[in-house]
Amino acid sequence: MTVVYRDPLYSPAERAVDLLKRMTLEEKVGQMVQPNGMDEENPPEKLIEEKNIGTFLHIIGDKCKKYQETARKTRLGIPLLFGIDAIHGHGFQDGAVIFPTQIGLSCSWNPEMIEKVAAITAREVALTGVHWTFSPVLCLARDPRWGRVDETFGEDPYLTGVLAEAMVRGYQGEDLAASDSILACAKHFVAYGETTGGRDSAECDISERKLRTLFLPPFKRVIDAGCTTVMAGYHANDGVPCSADRRLLKDILKEEWGFEGVVVSDWNNIGHLHTTQKVAKDLKEAAGMGLNAGNDIIMFTLEFYNRALELVREGVIKEEVIDEACRRILELKFRLGLFDGKSFPDTSEAAEIIGCREHREAAYQTALESIVLLKNQDNLLPLDKDIKRIAVIGPNADDITAQYGDWAIAGRDENGVPTAESYGYDKKLATTVLQGIRGRAGKEPEILYEKGCDVIDKRKENIARAVKVAEQAEVIIAVVGDTTCLYGECLDRADLNLTGAQQELLEALKRTGKPLLVVLINGKPLTVPWVIENADAIIEAWNPGMEGGKAVASVLFGDFNPCGKLTISFPRHVGQLPVYYNQLPGWHTDRYQDMTVEPLFSFGYGLSYTSFEYSNLRVKNNRVKQDDIINVYVDIENTGSRAGIEIIQAYVNDLYSSVTTPVKELKGFSRLNLKPGEKRTVEIEIPVRSLSLVNRELEEMVEPGEFELMVGRSSRDEDLLTTKFSVIE
Ligand code: BGC
Repeated sequence: MTVVYRDPLYSPAERAVDLLKRMTLEEKVGQMVQPNGMDEENPPEKLIEEKNIGTFLHIIGDKCKKYQETARKTRLGIPLLFGIDAIHGHGFQDGAVIFPTQIGLSCSWNPEMIEKVAAITAREVALTGVHWTFSPVLCLARDPRWGRVDETFGEDPYLTGVLAEAMVRGYQGEDLAASDSILACAKHFVAYGETTGGRDSAECDISERKLRTLFLPPFKRVIDAGCTTVMAGYHANDGVPCSADRRLLKDILKEEWGFEGVVVSDWNNIGHLHTTQKVAKDLKEAAGMGLNAGNDIIMFTLEFYNRALELVREGVIKEEVIDEACRRILELKFRLGLFDGKSFPDTSEAAEIIGCREHREAAYQTALESIVLLKNQDNLLPLDKDIKRIAVIGPNADDITAQYGDWAIAGRDENGVPTAESYGYDKKLATTVLQGIRGRAGKEPEILYEKGCDVIDKRKENIARAVKVAEQAEVIIAVVGDTTCLYGECLDRADLNLTGAQQELLEALKRTGKPLLVVLINGKPLTVPWVIENADAIIEAWNPGMEGGKAVASVLFGDFNPCGKLTISFPRHVGQLPVYYNQLPGWHTDRYQDMTVEPLFSFGYGLSYTSFEYSNLRVKNNRVKQDDIINVYVDIENTGSRAGIEIIQAYVNDLYSSVTTPVKELKGFSRLNLKPGEKRTVEIEIPVRSLSLVNRELEEMVEPGEFELMVGRSSRDEDLLTTKFSVIE
């Protein structure tokens, strides 16, 4: 007789239902638990044999194969599902390609490129026996004090949705069962970046109207595009922790949106319901809350296994709740092809493909497009060909930990000081900024180097030596910023100034009177008004990854014309926060008494080595109906002397509406490559439906009336052309 679940001719849904019928309660609950694969006290083999555990996180390579063997020998032989944080490349795997972090990638505004990044990552991840990445991050970074800004696509919900959708497509491919497809995970559901004071997983009080307006749309977009898993955030919103929030996980995500995939709780979310958030008096109550709310996979909290069994045996939780979660998990395993060979992938090519030349070339390209030119006084950049001697100074010039950023090396010792060793990553594979500059310069110009100071340590004793070196050069390139102990999970900041003795170093370099170019290697916006005033040129390189050093050098020497635009606004001072561009109008003034309200740099800002002129903004039809598309046209001319890419941004403001709406909201964008002197018309399509607001009855609707359309090079008013159109009944 055919065993339906073993037969690939049946659909994943049919196979899951068949398998479920054959399972004991214990086997079903085991599928729902995802222990930490690195926990030495609970070796995976034992957990598989004794508890029928169905998924682990943070296991790679040969171990995956070994544990799959163990699982194969269990009564039903259900393959394991392995998950990992491969969020800008397969950062846990030695030799894997490391791309810029998400915030860097986002500054490219290039969905095709981001899709490719994800596809390459998926290929490398799959070759190590892993099937699932906890990426992309869809949190909006509206408070740069928050530790995890580097993991986001910035502050805007529309751009986040577009780029996240591209990333999901890249990971999951056309067919989940393909050997190079892995599961994506939209996280952290929802509004995790919006906790008070920028404090990781602190208080959060967002009305459902605001959730639906700002934070849910990017998730909805990736779910509609087929994202298979969603991770519930750590924090509580309005007193309800995400993993206990039935309204969020069940009513909205699974029912209203029809999400058919799997909800995974974040690391020990179920434990936290009892231990830190204190909504459950013990772990059993916490397990019940997690089940009722709609979590399918419980990350880390091993005790969930026994507690869930007790709850079902005592009749507190119906077995159907377990069945429903288990069915979803099994269906995904079938869709992935785990029962049909993919759990034992052919890894013979792994060494050849992981970190191969082609993948590294992609890392280089992405680093180029992630770089944002923030200042370029008197066109000091690109560097003059006649320069004979350059001084490269600064703590991030030759520091791979700072350059890679979080989730790659992420090593920190017990004092929080960055170390490069914790994942055993081979540093020799990367090119630091110093190496990149040396490699590009060749014999001439001569490159001198001094570190000058540390990012953390405040000692100034090496500054004098750096100044001496700087004095021998014609130009100074100062590479400063932050490092992995200053951002990341649980690593929020109250102050965003340069740390260590970096400010003193820059001031001493400035006093030499030599042209001062600053390269920022950092995970988040820093408050650097002195730098903006005093540096002659500034490059924001973020955490540019493995090929970041080469990319920075290519920009400095003019081999590549920078085109990145900021996706997060930079404050001058933390007291100005929030500074995101899409604020609601209504503040009784437009300035602080002691400071301007203007950010240092606005969302969408970024320079080029050439210049672009915008003219003739128009719409095809300035009276549109709900189901129409607004066709926006604008002429762009490259008025400089170099070819360059321009990112054209379209913002809309609903002029009068039943609820207050932001002064402007990004609704579309386009990228255009223009030769010097070339002039083209760009078309951007904006569906009228995308102009919706969420009214006080929580209905999403486009209210008829007049709208302002703003198109230009950044979100700043002075960079935008404007026109109007009307939405009619
Ligand atoms: C983070 C998640 C991550 C998970 C697994 C948690 O601490 O919040 O983003 O995916 O750990 O590593």
